Amino acid sequence: MTLHFLIDCDPGIDDALALTYAFAHPQVAVEGLVATGGNVSTEQVGRNVRGLLDLLGGQGTPWTLGAENPLAQPLTTTEETHGPLGTGYGLLPGQKEPTGRAYGEGAALWIETARHFPGKLHGLILGPSTNLALALRRDPELPQYLASLTIMGGALNHRGNTMPTTEWNVHSDPEGLHEVLAAYSHPGLDLPYAPLLCPLDTTEQAVMTPQLRERLLAGGGELFTALDGALQFYMEFHEWDKLGFIAHVHDPFVTALAVNRALAANGQPHIPLGEGTPVTLDVELAGTLTRGQVVADWLGRWGRDPNAQALTSALAPEFFEHFIQTVRAAYAPKGYA
Ligand code: RIB
Ligand code: CA
Repeated sequence: MTLHFLIDCDPGIDDALALTYAFAHPQVAVEGLVATGGNVSTEQVGRNVRGLLDLLGGQGTPWTLGAENPLAQPLTTTEETHGPLGTGYGLLPGQKEPTGRAYGEGAALWIETARHFPGKLHGLILGPSTNLALALRRDPELPQYLASLTIMGGALNHRGNTMPTTEWNVHSDPEGLHEVLAAYSHPGLDLPYAPLLCPLDTTEQAVMTPQLRERLLAGGGELFTALDGALQFYMEFHEWDKLGFIAHVHDPFVTALAVNRALAANGQPHIPLGEGTPVTLDVELAGTLTRGQVVADWLGRWGRDPNAQALTSALAPEFFEHFIQTVRAAYAPKGYA
C-alpha cells in the first residue's frame, strides 16, 4: 500500500538527507513539497528543493514556495550551520537560478493535497510550521483530512540547540507551531491521530559519524557527492559547536520514523524507531529568555487534555541501518552494494 506524504521542509543539509530517504523508499509517494524559509531563505530553499528533485528523479513532484517570512517575526536564517546556499559544500543543479515562483503558495498546497487524499495524507514538517499554520487559518477542517502529522521541533527535557531552551525550527517561528498545536486543542476533536512532535531529546540521538557517512555515500556520483559535501560542512559546524566531528541528522530520522509509523498503522511490515507519549504541548511566545520554547505539561498542571504526542525514545542504530539500506538500494552507483 502506497503511503502519501506532503513534506514541508527547509533544505538545509539534514532536510536533503530526509528527502533522499523519502524518494528512495519504495512505498512512499511524495505528493507535494513546501519550501519553507528557515535554514536559508524561502527562495533559496525553493532552489534547493528543485535541485534535489532533479537529482532524486522527482522532477514531476508538485512543490511551492511558502511564505517569505514567519508569522510574527522577520525570517532569521542559519548559513553558518547549513552553508551560504543551504547545502554546505555540496552543490545542486540550478541552485543559484531564481525559481521565478511567488511566495505564499504553501498553504494552498497543504489544503489541495490533503483534500485530494482525504484521510490518507501524511503531513511531515521538517522546518518551521509557518505554512501549515497558514493553511489551518484558511481551512480549519484540515486536521480531519490528514492521516498523521509528524513535526521535527522543540527541546522538552533537553537543552536547546539555538538558545538555551529553544530548538531552531520553533525558534524560527514560535507562533507557527503554537497555532498548529492550538488547532489540535479543541475539546471534542475526535481524530484517529495526534500530532507527533519529535524534539531534540530524541533526534540528537541520530548521530552521523564519519564511518556511517562513508557507508551511506560510498561510490560517489552526483547525488552522493553533493550529500557528502553537505555533510562535511555540517560535521565541521558540529565540531565548531563543541559536539565533535559528527552531525545530528534530525530530519531523516524523523522522516523514517513517520514512514514506519504509517506502515505500522496500516498493519504493514515496519521498523519500530521510537515511541510517543500523549502530552499537552504549547509554545512560549512572550518569554524574555525563553520565547520559542516548547513546553510539555507532563503532570497535567494546565488542566488541558493532551493535544499531541511527544517522541520519548529513538532507536538510532536501527534507524541508520534502515536509512543506509533504503538510500543505497535506490541511489548507490551501479556495482556498489
Ligand atoms: O533544530 C534542527 C532542525 O532545524 C532541523 O530540521 C534542521 O534542518 C533545522 O531546520
Ligand atoms: Ca529542517
